[in-house]
Amino acid sequence: MTAIPGPTESASLQTARWLARPIRFLEDNRRRYGDAFTVMFKGFKTPLVIVSHPSVLRALYGERGHRMPPGRQVTLKPLVGARSLLLLEGSEHLSRRKVMLPPFRGDRMRAYEPIMRDASARALDAWPVGRAFAVHPSMQSITLDVILQAVFGVSDETRRARLHQLLGDLLAATTSMSLQVQVLFGRMAPLEALQVQAGEIDALLLEEIAARRSSPGEDICSLLVQARFEDGTAMSDGEIRDQLMTLLMAGHETTATGLAWTLDLLVRHPDVLERARGGDETYLKAVVSESLRLRPVVPLAGRRLTVPLEVDGLSLPVGTDVTPAMWLTHTRPEEYPEPYAFRPERFLESPPSTYTWIPFGGGVRRCIGAPFAELEMRVVLGEVLERFDLRPAGRGAEGIARRNVTFSPRHGTRIVATPR
Ligand code: HEM
Repeated sequence: MTAIPGPTESASLQTARWLARPIRFLEDNRRRYGDAFTVMFKGFKTPLVIVSHPSVLRALYGERGHRMPPGRQVTLKPLVGARSLLLLEGSEHLSRRKVMLPPFRGDRMRAYEPIMRDASARALDAWPVGRAFAVHPSMQSITLDVILQAVFGVSDETRRARLHQLLGDLLAATTSMSLQVQVLFGRMAPLEALQVQAGEIDALLLEEIAARRSSPGEDICSLLVQARFEDGTAMSDGEIRDQLMTLLMAGHETTATGLAWTLDLLVRHPDVLERARGGDETYLKAVVSESLRLRPVVPLAGRRLTVPLEVDGLSLPVGTDVTPAMWLTHTRPEEYPEPYAFRPERFLESPPSTYTWIPFGGGVRRCIGAPFAELEMRVVLGEVLERFDLRPAGRGAEGIARRNVTFSPRHGTRIVATPR
């Protein structure tokens, strides 16, 4: 087995470059070392092989037995709990995935459209008119509201407002740059402080779960309450709480960021914006696919190999940490001519394909919320475009900043909106 080349500077320097300029870091390495290269991040005991060729992705994601990458447990467990779908492995993971996938099936999602529309309308009512503002926080507010209603099933407005505030604070704290850096460099105290803050949230969530048990609705929580594992047992309240926090952590910031990026791209491409406004759902779908290609929200979704990976001249032993880099896969000119151009038309003829378009990862850990996120993005964008004319607040395109596990618009996508 031959070693995969990569940058030779210290782990601290590589980590600093990754945190400060992630795209430049990825592209420099691709230029120098090719489609696969090895990096070393501080805080990780083993190197990480970054891959991007579709055939390597097929081989990696096609194998169900690989484990999750290291680090996830440390950063997520205090917030989502040990039984979280994001943290389980092997048969425990698969049995949860089996009961959690059906509630997110594409054909069920339409039931949530009115919730998505109302949440958008409430947030858009508060937009400042005719002056520059950052749109990302407004998108966060919408996606949090939607999760509280469609996923948690909280219908009482006072309780929803309280949870909105508590969870909003918690989420803001977890995505702060200072927290990420402290955790990366081995300081756990901030995470423990967050756990204490989560006490009131837990109590409220357990009350909501009890309410769904006595009177179930259409929401995801109600479906989880009624779901049964293969042996006929149900999830405990504690586990449902863990899965709700998981869905929140996995689905809130990601969708809000996807929306902010799409708006950033749209305001800089007035022709696309105009066509998207036409009400053609297929085109809006293509806009969302193209945004997630050109601005992948989650940069990496890796595995630790449990069987060797032998493909395309690569030969990686058991135990290697391997991750696709979405950005690199999505900017391959072989699959995407003029890869840096924003052209939704490329998805009109043929929808995205499994191993060249990976904003939601792949294989047995692929995002279960993808149909939910894609519908929510279409609905929110539809509402925004119907109500406002939009223009960018500045000339330069948004830079990419890393926020926790996401690539996020550095300045929150500053736009100017005027009612139509
Ligand atoms: C644009 C929005 C979103 C993006 C870009 C995104 C992306 C991802 C990615 C990359 C993964 C990891 C896949 C892997 O390891 O291969 C993932 C997993 C997951 N996502 Fe999403 N996601 C989004 C929205 C959502 C939403 C709305 C929900 C639920 C409400 C959700 C729930 C989950 C869950 C539960 C997992 C873990 C799946 C597992 O480990 O089996 N996501 N997502």
